[in-house]
Amino acid sequence: GYYQELYRPQFHFSPEANWMNDPNGMVYYEGEYHLFYQYYPDGNVWGPMHWGHAISEDLVHWEHLPIALYPDSLGYIFSGSAVIDHENTSGLGKDGMPPMVAIFTYHDPVGEAGGRDDFQTQGIAYSLDKGRTWTVYEGNPVLANPGIKDFRDPKVIWHEESELWIMSLAVLDKISFYTSPNLLDWTFASDFQPAWAAYGGVWECPDLFPLKTETGEEKWVLLVSINPGGPQGGSATQYFIGDFDGKSFTPTQEDVEWIDWGADNYAGVTWSNIPEADGRRIFIGWMSNWNYAQVVPTTAWRSAMTVPRSLALVEKEGTYSVISQPVSELEKLRIREFPVTSEVFELGSKTIELLLSLQDEQDFSLRFYNDSGEEVVLSRIRDQFIFDRSKSGVTTFEDGFGNPQTIPLNSVQLESVRVFVDQSSIEVFLNDGAVAITNLVFPKRAYSHVELSGIPAQGSLYHLASIWK
Ligand code: FRU
Repeated sequence: GYYQELYRPQFHFSPEANWMNDPNGMVYYEGEYHLFYQYYPDGNVWGPMHWGHAISEDLVHWEHLPIALYPDSLGYIFSGSAVIDHENTSGLGKDGMPPMVAIFTYHDPVGEAGGRDDFQTQGIAYSLDKGRTWTVYEGNPVLANPGIKDFRDPKVIWHEESELWIMSLAVLDKISFYTSPNLLDWTFASDFQPAWAAYGGVWECPDLFPLKTETGEEKWVLLVSINPGGPQGGSATQYFIGDFDGKSFTPTQEDVEWIDWGADNYAGVTWSNIPEADGRRIFIGWMSNWNYAQVVPTTAWRSAMTVPRSLALVEKEGTYSVISQPVSELEKLRIREFPVTSEVFELGSKTIELLLSLQDEQDFSLRFYNDSGEEVVLSRIRDQFIFDRSKSGVTTFEDGFGNPQTIPLNSVQLESVRVFVDQSSIEVFLNDGAVAITNLVFPKRAYSHVELSGIPAQGSLYHLASIWK
């Protein structure tokens, strides 16, 4: 049946067929959340990139739409963003209808093969019918390449104070900011490249946005994906906290922070144009890792997105951090609730959410297992949290896949753990999202039981409905 394959995610977005990587162009408009994504429609590995497209009214159930952007004479369509140009600053609107504008990277394979350095440029396309059909702008590229091979992944926001559009762009191992009054003409503003950041690999997919704490203090957050160089090897997303004056980003804390400590949350960025009344900053990531994304044992399609997460800013003793909470809309998927009352219990569903309160500082473990000897063990050992997928199922497609993952807890008192299990992924949120850990797993049969040790049998297990019909 539809979406019934082995490993097919039941409550995560995945394309019907073929290869997907980064989420792109997320924008909210007239009741619809748009999700575009890096897509290769002719195969199950990375290839000439298109923008696939889906929409949702609730961030949970998705409707597939036709491919939005195809490679053209300027190149493949790499990652980027989308905005609603409400004031028609671009002049691309018509009859009072604001354009939805996509800003993306053109990757010219001919220039690349010819040994040129300037094969990545920024282009735009626009839609006047709620993202259903797209026109590529005639004046592309809107931002030419200055002679740097890695020059990509534009994320554009409207900056109220300066009344300008701001583009964050990944340029090899720094972020460059550009400004524009109209999305068509771009002026270089500044570079961000602090000595203490993580530089294990190329910088990709930036995102810059303001967040407020509960008491109303505002900070700017800059997300920067990096590959390789993540805390578990390969791909991961670091973030910076600072101030932004319309031209440059000034970090106010010198530390490398990670949006997610697992191996499988990459290239994540946030939605544009979420209504002010909602006020959330909603994030989704690509649930894979370039170390093995192209060889994971799924057939027909490859890759899924993480669950959408609301990002929030918290302050503790003068230090700010970003927490990730699964969007509340996901609670609609809870079809049955079971109180947890014993240390070993049956899951009873392939798709579950488990919520447990943790009461003291002792070591503990939480083991998902089946009777084929497959298991995933989550444990706390003193000041570390360990995610062990070494016996999770199929792991042989990549050497390091089964390496136990260690996450520093920095003396944080653990109060709660929330786990989402789908057919080929486990997402863990400690302390309401203070630590997020996202990992793929490929058990030959679903995990059927949980065993707790050192954890009070106190909490709830939910069976989750499939989002696919
Ligand atoms: C990140 C990335 C981006 C690029 C895209 C190509 O995963 O490498 O930098 O635009 O994927 O598909």
